[in-house]
Amino acid sequence: MKQKLVLALFAFSATFSVSAERKVVDLSAHKVYKQSLVKTIKRSQANQAEPLFDFETVLDISNQLNVSVQVSQNTLDQLPDAVTDEDYDIQPANKVALGKVLFFDKILSGNKNDSCATCHHPFAWSGDGLSLPIGEGGDGVGVTRTTGFMEAGVHERVPRNAPQIFNLGAKVFNVMFHDGRVVEDSTQPSGFFTPAGNDLPLGLDNALAAQAMFPVTSQTEMAGQAGENSIADATIAGNLAGEGGVWAQLASRIQEISEYVEMFKDVYPDVNSASDITMVHIANAIGAFEGDVWRADNSAFDKYLRGDTGAMSANQIAGMNVFYGDGGCAQCHNGKFLTSNEFKSVGMPQIGPGKGDNLPGFRDGLDDFGRERVTGNTDDRFKFKVPSLRNALLTGPWGHAGAYNDLRTVIKHHLNPAQALANYDESQVIMPYRRDLSALDFAVMNDTLSRNALLSNLDISNVNLTETQIDRLMDFLDAVTDRSSIDLRTDVPTSVPSGLPVFE
Ligand code: HEC
Ligand code: HEC
Repeated sequence: MKQKLVLALFAFSATFSVSAERKVVDLSAHKVYKQSLVKTIKRSQANQAEPLFDFETVLDISNQLNVSVQVSQNTLDQLPDAVTDEDYDIQPANKVALGKVLFFDKILSGNKNDSCATCHHPFAWSGDGLSLPIGEGGDGVGVTRTTGFMEAGVHERVPRNAPQIFNLGAKVFNVMFHDGRVVEDSTQPSGFFTPAGNDLPLGLDNALAAQAMFPVTSQTEMAGQAGENSIADATIAGNLAGEGGVWAQLASRIQEISEYVEMFKDVYPDVNSASDITMVHIANAIGAFEGDVWRADNSAFDKYLRGDTGAMSANQIAGMNVFYGDGGCAQCHNGKFLTSNEFKSVGMPQIGPGKGDNLPGFRDGLDDFGRERVTGNTDDRFKFKVPSLRNALLTGPWGHAGAYNDLRTVIKHHLNPAQALANYDESQVIMPYRRDLSALDFAVMNDTLSRNALLSNLDISNVNLTETQIDRLMDFLDAVTDRSSIDLRTDVPTSVPSGLPVFE
C-alpha cells in the first residue's frame, strides 16, 4: 500500500513517499523544504509554538511493515552500545544559555556582520545549506545567503564545507575540522594541539571549546580584510594571544556590554568583574552550548540499540545489514556516532578556491591536501576526517567541499570513486554565483590530471551493490536521522546582548 504523508509547513509543504517494500525520503522535497524554510524564518520566529512537522505521523513507521527482516549475525557483532548521558560532557544550564547568545552574536566578528550561526544555523541543521560557505561580508542566512555588496562583500569562498555540529559534545569527538588541526593532546601545555601552538591559552574545556577560538581568527570566516577593523589587522599580523591581539580585543568588546558581564559572573566563579572575562570563557560557553543543544541520539537506530526491536522498519534493518556487511561502510563509519574519527581518502570531488595546495606543475593553489596539511606527510594526502553519519539526511551538501547535494550520489561515489569523479555533475552545487568566484569553482574537476590525482591515495576499493541495496542504505541513513532534529527553531534566540541583529 502506498501511503503519502503530507507534512504541513508554513507556506509550503514537503511530501515524503512511504510504501511497504520501499521507503525512500524524497530529497528534492527536502531541498524545497530547506529553501522555503529559510524564507519563512522571520515569520516563524513569531510563531514558535506551531510545530513544523506532525512528528507522530512521521515517527509512526511500524505500521507500514508487512515483511520481516532479520538482523544478521555479522551486524549484531558490530553494533555499538546505545548512546547514554555518560557519553557527553554535560554542562550547566546557565553556561549553555550564555553560549547560545554568544553563538548568535555578530559582536564576535571583526566587522560585526556574521556570527557562528551564520554557517552553523538551526534552520540549516547546524550547517549553512551551501556547498561552500559565504563568510564575513556576505548577506543573509542559509541557501539564500549572497556574496554581499561591492568592496564590503566576500573576497573568496570559504574553501571547505561547513560541517554539521550535531553531537559534538560527546567526549569521543576529540578531533575538530575536516583535517583534524585541533585535537586533544595531553603532551601539549594547553592540552590541545592546534594551529596556535603555544599561544593557545590554558583552561579550555574540550576540543569543541578549543575549536571555538579559531573561526574568529579567520579573515574569510569572521575577522575581515586588512584595514577594515583592528581585529582583522591583528589576525593578519599573527597576533592572536598577545596584547591587542584578536582574543583580547574580542574579550574587551564583551566586557563593555553589561548584560554579558552579569551572565559571565553568574557562570564563572573566577569572573568577578568585567576585566576578568577572557576569550577562554567565551569559547568554553560556546562549546557548552554547541554540545548541549545539538544532541541527536534519539533516532530509530538509537531506539533499536536501546532495546526497542520494533523501532526500525524492515527496510531500515535490511539497510543496516548492507551498511555493516556488503557495503563495507562500517570499516570507517563505525562506533556510536558512526565515525572512526580517523582520516581516510575516498576521493571526494574538490571544488572552490582550495587551501593553497599545489600538485607538481601547478601554482593555482586550488587543491586541498586535507590531513597532509597538518602532518606534513604525503601519505596523508587527500585524507579527510570520517564524518559522523548521524542526521545524514539533514546535513547536506555533503563532502569536505560540499560538492554533492544528493545523498544517493554520495553513497554511489564510495562504491566507485573513479566513475563518480568522471561523471561529476557540477550543476548540483549550491553557492551564490559571482563571476570571479565561480570562475575557480570547477578548475580542479575540469583538469584531468588534478581530478585523477584525487584518486591517487584511496583507502577504499570498488564495491558492487545493487540499486535495491543502495535504496536500503538510504533507508538506514534515514534510520540514523533523529526526528527531533528537524525543527530546531527554538534554538535561535530572539535577541542577543550586543543588540546586533540576529536575523539580517
Ligand atoms: C563563514 C562560515 C563559518 C563561520 C562564521 C563559523 N564556521 Fe565553524 N566551520 C566552518 C567551516 C568551513 C568548517 C570546516 C573547516 C575545516 O575543516 O577546515 C567549520 C568547522 C567547525 C567545527 C568543527 C566540526 C567538526 O566536526 O570538525 C566546529 C565545532 C565549528 N565550526 C564551530 C564554529 C563556531 C563555534 C563558530 C563561531 C565562533 C564558527 N564555527 C563559525 C564555517 C564557519
Ligand atoms: C575508507 C573509509 C570509508 C568507507 C569504507 C566509507 N566511507 Fe563514507 N566517508 C568517508 C570519508 C573520509 C568521508 C569524507 C570525505 C570527504 O569529505 O572528502 C565520507 C563521507 C561520507 C558521507 C558524507 C557525509 C558528510 O557529512 O559529508 C556519507 C553520507 C557517507 N560517507 C556514507 C558512506 C556509506 C553509506 C558507506 C558504505 C557504502 C561509506 N560511507 C563507506 C570514509 C569512508
